[in-house]
Amino acid sequence: MSIAPAPETIRTRLSRVDGQAGELVIGGYRLEDLAPQATFEEVVYLLWHDRLPNSAELTKHRRQLAEERALSPQARQAVQAAVEQGAGSMDALRLAVETQVLDGPSEASESREAWLQQALRMVARMPVLVAAYARFRRGQEPADPPGDLGHAAAYLYAVQGSPADPEAIRALETYFNSVIDHGLNASTLAARVVASTHSDMIAAVAAALAALKGPLHGGAPGPALDMMKEIERRRSASGRSLEAETEDYVRQTVAAGGRLMGFGHRIYKVRDPRADVLSRAAEQLAVDPQRADFLRRAKAIEQVTLRVLEELKPGRNLRTNVEFYTALLLECVGLPSDLFTPTFAVARVAGWTAHILEQRFEGRLIRPQEEYVGEVGRRWAPASRR
Ligand code: SDX
Repeated sequence: MSIAPAPETIRTRLSRVDGQAGELVIGGYRLEDLAPQATFEEVVYLLWHDRLPNSAELTKHRRQLAEERALSPQARQAVQAAVEQGAGSMDALRLAVETQVLDGPSEASESREAWLQQALRMVARMPVLVAAYARFRRGQEPADPPGDLGHAAAYLYAVQGSPADPEAIRALETYFNSVIDHGLNASTLAARVVASTHSDMIAAVAAALAALKGPLHGGAPGPALDMMKEIERRRSASGRSLEAETEDYVRQTVAAGGRLMGFGHRIYKVRDPRADVLSRAAEQLAVDPQRADFLRRAKAIEQVTLRVLEELKPGRNLRTNVEFYTALLLECVGLPSDLFTPTFAVARVAGWTAHILEQRFEGRLIRPQEEYVGEVGRRWAPASRR
């Protein structure tokens, strides 16, 4: 009989995050090999089936995702209501995902096949839900991407209302592949906990979305871009150098107890390997001089930030994490910054569903052991005598 691992250790074949070496392995492949070469659909298949698909399997898998890429009437209504109420993108997304409960009686099936079908529907629909939010917010109807588009191309079409250029699609695909899975991060753990109780796919993904909304986890790329734009604004107003304005910005933020979005990581104590993959993808996108100059200035901001953080927070190993270059790449792709976190969810939902399947069919109830540090031995007395 196999000995179950200690309750606090969750075993997975999906990804390995080596924080000391700064290495990420996804489904057995090095990030640097997989992310810039694979299509998103191939990596989704890899996570669900523990191998890359052959050509026939990939064609079928792409078609199945495209067929499920639909906006249900309930989801449409939920997103519209969220936009009318001024709800944020992550709240709108969570609301829309939950409406899938209304898509007909999802019998609490015990079969992996049924859960895998739900996973496919969840991955297929996430881009459509995000795009509907983006379009309604601009007073536009959702754009219906042509069925023959791949996932990344369909997402950009649905948001922008027209075909994206191949370079932007490739850059977004590399981004999707880079953030598709990342060990037991907060949102993935939330999904696994719900799956471990034998709840259902929708509930588990909704829990993950709730966790991802937090600025310490998923909410960082938008503010990372805001930081760069604020430093640029100060520079053009003061005429001082980019380095000087960056130094002041970092010192003021830390002195006020704030955090620099896009820096620091609980696991990576060296540079996040995804930063280099995304930086290279952004450079390939930045063919026009304006974008190339934007990237050059962002790298200068990054270097000053790292230097000042090392001075102010010695020993914390605050290095560039995935979100700094996420912000740069998605800006170059042409997505608005308040869609950065939902765009992360469009990719990460594949990792979440793979972890949900793994936990549901190979794991057991997640129940960490608490350490009680409160008082003991207190004696009861009624309120009149307290
Ligand atoms: C993601 O887990 C994952 O894998 C997540 C993720 C994924 O793929 O799922 O990689 C995605 O969440 C990336 C991280 C995105 N978040 C940000 O960029 C937000 C900014 N980063 C920080 O908030 C912070 O670095 C965390 C939350 C990411 C990690 O912080 P820890 O490990 O909990 O460390 P800590 O909060 O205990 O901080 C230790 C010290 C503190 O100073 P002291 O109290 O010791 O004086 O470092 C400081 C912190 O104030 N610090 C920062 C900082 N991050 C930590 N100071 C300034 N700027 C920062 N970014």
